[in-house]
Amino acid sequence: MQTAPFPRREIGVFDSGVGGLTVLRELRALLPGARLRYLADTAYAPYGGRSADEIRARCFAITEHLVASGAALVVVACNTATAHAIEALRARWPALPFVGTEPGIKPAVAATRNGRIGLLATRATAASERLRALIARHADGREVLVQACPGVVNHIEAGDLDSAALRALVERHCEPLRAAGVDTALLGCTHYPLIAPLWQAALGDGVRLLRIETAVARRAAALWTPGADAPGLAVETSGDPAALRDWVARVLGWRDLDLRRWPAA
Ligand code: DGL
Repeated sequence: MQTAPFPRREIGVFDSGVGGLTVLRELRALLPGARLRYLADTAYAPYGGRSADEIRARCFAITEHLVASGAALVVVACNTATAHAIEALRARWPALPFVGTEPGIKPAVAATRNGRIGLLATRATAASERLRALIARHADGREVLVQACPGVVNHIEAGDLDSAALRALVERHCEPLRAAGVDTALLGCTHYPLIAPLWQAALGDGVRLLRIETAVARRAAALWTPGADAPGLAVETSGDPAALRDWVARVLGWRDLDLRRWPAA
């Protein structure tokens, strides 16, 4: 009689592309013994210009795959996917814990001195009902200015973290926040910390920049029950594995990754 293989338990993490790697980096540091799988949905990035239905369909296809691979916890390392799909994911997989990524309105409210907060996000996140409700719930009388930043993710996905064109785009998106005199700004997209110095330069030194990836990783680590599996990291992309391998080596310095195409060609 054949015994069934002991089911592998791992943490599945996904994003439209490289943005969620900012969360994964924190997670690796917090849980060096865990098995991690990261899925970059590069072929469909950016999500920020897609409809809610498209974003949800991608999130369902990815989660099916992560669950089939042994995910016992899923980290939605993408604000846009969280805004449009996390409720549907939780309804479809009620026994599976999901950790979402949302801008930290509460820390921003605690940090602001003048009561004016800027929130930089993708177009789809900026337009979402979930973000509107989050702000209504936590803003506590502070003004939260939401700025959609189309185009930025395309540069980052292409490996451009510092060109003159990207700097000009970032400055343009920051202009309304500067004009409003915000003293605190939230990076509401997991790609954005990868160009934190550009946001800081565009907003000015006096503006406090807040990011969320550490809090998301901590939440995931708190929910994780270690199993008997060997630690590891598998990375998959619906785009070009060679391009992602280069990007990861250049920006994060991670080499020798188990990096494959999904779905397998
Ligand atoms: N990294 C994502 C986010 O946090 C998605 C960006 C995009 O694909 O537009 O919103």
